[in-house]
Amino acid sequence: MGLVGVAVVSLAAAAGAARVPPQHHVKRQVAELRESYDFVIAGGGTAGLTVADRLSAAFPSKNVLVIEYGDIHAAPGLFDPPTNWIEPHPDEAPRWTLLALPSPDMGNARASVQAGQTVGGSSAVNGQFFDRGAKQDYDAWHELGGLEALLSPNKWNWNGIFPYFKKSVTFTEPSPSVAARYGYTWSTSAYGGTGPIWSTYAPFQWADQKILTQAWHDLGVPDVRECAGGRKEGVCWVPASQHPVTGERSHSGVGHYADAQPRANYDLLVRHQVVRVAYGAGGPLGGGAPRVEVRSLDGDGGGLFNVTVRGEVILSAGALHTPTILQRSGIGPAAFLAGRGVPVVVDLPGVGSNLQDHSGPPVTWNYTAPYAPGAWPLPSEVGRNATFKAEATAAFAATPAAGPYTLGGGNSAVYASLPRAAGRAAAARIARKIRKQVLDGSARTFLPADLRGVPAVVAGYKAQLLVLARALEDAGSPSVETPWATAEGPVTAWSFLLRPLSRGTVRLDPADPLAPPVLDYRAGANPVDMDLHRAHLRFVRQLVATPTLQQFGAAELAPGAAVAGDDEALAAYIRDKSFLSFMHPCGTAAMMPRSLGGVVGYDLKVHGTKGLRVADASIMPLEPAAHLSATTYAIGEKAADIIIAEWKKKKGW
Ligand SMILES: Cc1cc2nc3c(=O)[nH]c(=O)nc-3n(C[C@H](O)[C@H](O)[C@H](O)COP(=O)(O)OP(=O)(O)OC[C@H]3O[C@@H](n4cnc5c(N)ncnc54)[C@H](O)[C@@H]3O)c2cc1C
Ligand SMILES: *[C@@H]1O[C@H](CO)[C@@H](O)[C@H](O)[C@H]1NC(C)=O
Ligand SMILES: *[C@@H]1O[C@H](CO)[C@@H](O)[C@H](O)[C@H]1NC(C)=O
Ligand SMILES: *[C@@H]1O[C@H](CO)[C@@H](O)[C@H](O)[C@H]1NC(C)=O
Repeated sequence: MGLVGVAVVSLAAAAGAARVPPQHHVKRQVAELRESYDFVIAGGGTAGLTVADRLSAAFPSKNVLVIEYGDIHAAPGLFDPPTNWIEPHPDEAPRWTLLALPSPDMGNARASVQAGQTVGGSSAVNGQFFDRGAKQDYDAWHELGGLEALLSPNKWNWNGIFPYFKKSVTFTEPSPSVAARYGYTWSTSAYGGTGPIWSTYAPFQWADQKILTQAWHDLGVPDVRECAGGRKEGVCWVPASQHPVTGERSHSGVGHYADAQPRANYDLLVRHQVVRVAYGAGGPLGGGAPRVEVRSLDGDGGGLFNVTVRGEVILSAGALHTPTILQRSGIGPAAFLAGRGVPVVVDLPGVGSNLQDHSGPPVTWNYTAPYAPGAWPLPSEVGRNATFKAEATAAFAATPAAGPYTLGGGNSAVYASLPRAAGRAAAARIARKIRKQVLDGSARTFLPADLRGVPAVVAGYKAQLLVLARALEDAGSPSVETPWATAEGPVTAWSFLLRPLSRGTVRLDPADPLAPPVLDYRAGANPVDMDLHRAHLRFVRQLVATPTLQQFGAAELAPGAAVAGDDEALAAYIRDKSFLSFMHPCGTAAMMPRSLGGVVGYDLKVHGTKGLRVADASIMPLEPAAHLSATTYAIGEKAADIIIAEWKKKKGW
């Protein structure tokens, strides 16, 4: 362990919480690697380590290598002691932080996007909000694939992915007294797996938790008993990805690496960047797997080294980086690659295209009368009461962990369909507007300039718009999410646009192809996204006027009635105040047919290649109505099953 590691350990000791996972079979130099590997996984993140764990367990006589840019770090929960829910945790693992190009249609705002840069990837730094999408989300992935998806033995619709959601996680029910105290509901039919990722409901809530629930009920939004079972339109409880006894963050670097080791055939090379995959003289379809070209980030001469692969390569570097590996390999939009001097190996215009993220503006309000009088404790207690904070810290360290720190950032949210948010007529109007874009050809003009003339990409975008138009009319399919907002005020309630229509790009930095990529979010490029933002925000605003919040004199701070009543003024507010990334980038190596601009097929193989797949958030062709980690684990689990089944069939291997 280098100096950085030592520093992390001592900080962890000072904080008394975060512990660094054990290191097994860690390689820090290419000289320590074996001569060749059966499976090489690029990126030791959420999906990558899931795949590595399952493959190394299934094939004890085959060798698996994971190559990760970051190192092994402590990965405390985002809100573990000693934070005040404001400052970042002092021990948190390193992150990639990328600032996207300005989005002209959003007042030149720039998305600030992060991802984990550590063993465990984004699962080691995320908010641990562990929800699954709605049934309709995954059924849409399948529908987009047309005949190709129908004919594939690998189904990615709800029925095809649900078993992998179950397999990925061990869900621990809250105790009956905790469930009764807070009103937690769940259905064991959504769970039942024994996967190495833990989830549970915290044994704590702030005293005002029920107030917002009541306000949503005032608006007629119903409770959903279990939101992880495919139906999630309504008020939802959302489990946290944390251990039910210790309260520690549960992430892939622990569940799928530290806890899976020592396993003699599972190696991990840290502090190395996968530069590209390189095919031999036979080309991408000629023979076996490509080699994996890597470079050390800690000196080692800075030179390149090829890892020899006997079986196959799986790219799991996440939605921001998997497309960079493909592009450096000559797999991507031909015109773009040629312009950068990269020899074209496979012309796949979808690589780094189709970038989507969740985004949205806030509604804020204040209380002018005493808020929740007599209710104790409220979240501000940690910041102002040292005794309370000391007790909370001790409770979190106890066995089993208890108290406010187990709750993290909260575990409830509302998911509303567009018909609920805006009414059926307005939802139908928006859906018609989307269909009109497809029919009159304007859809193509919303795509990035260099993709408007690429027939496959245009066809794929049109297919997506038609699927989305239907989803937006569906009263059971969420269009907006508002995570919980409890506080004495000012209160901020975000409205997440769950089904964006605009598409961005991830492209190599022309100045340095090894540097983080150039992100062009192009937020708001499709003008219907603004219609959706407005409808969502007007819906969330109604909370302020509910009898429940009015008992405390709730007074809207922004956008306010005057702004909200005027389409143009509200658009200006949305352009000014939106977060353009809720850290859910996806879609940049989409699972769709090649004729629709897709990058991977339903077996996750990169179109036009052999021995190369993608398994991470990049394959999601459309955003699900959820934060992405649970879906990414399910992708890793299903990818592993597909790969295992295929290699078990091969004779003499
Ligand atoms: C701050 C933050 C908060 C979030 N909050 C939530 C939440 O509360 N709930 C939720 O469900 N989701 C949340 N998400 C999203 C979710 O965690 C991610 O979508 C998901 O974990 C992505 O998994 P992945 O496997 O696609 O990529 P990652 O888990 O990001 O893994 C990719 C890995 O590849 C490595 N890598 C990249 N390039 C290379 C290269 N060239 N060579 C070698 N290695 C490379 C990276 O360092 C990283 O470790 C959050 C994300 C962030 C960043
Ligand atoms: C890796 O292999 C490819 C394909 O054979 C070759 O072109 C490249 O030069 C090799 N890289 C190194 C560092 O040896
Ligand atoms: C909100 O209310 C608090 C408490 O009454 C007050 O201190 C604060 O100034 C208010 N904020 C705004 C923006 O009005
Ligand atoms: C501070 O917290 C302690 C411990 O929970 C509690 O007993 C005390 O009443 C709190 N003080 C105030 C002023 O609320």
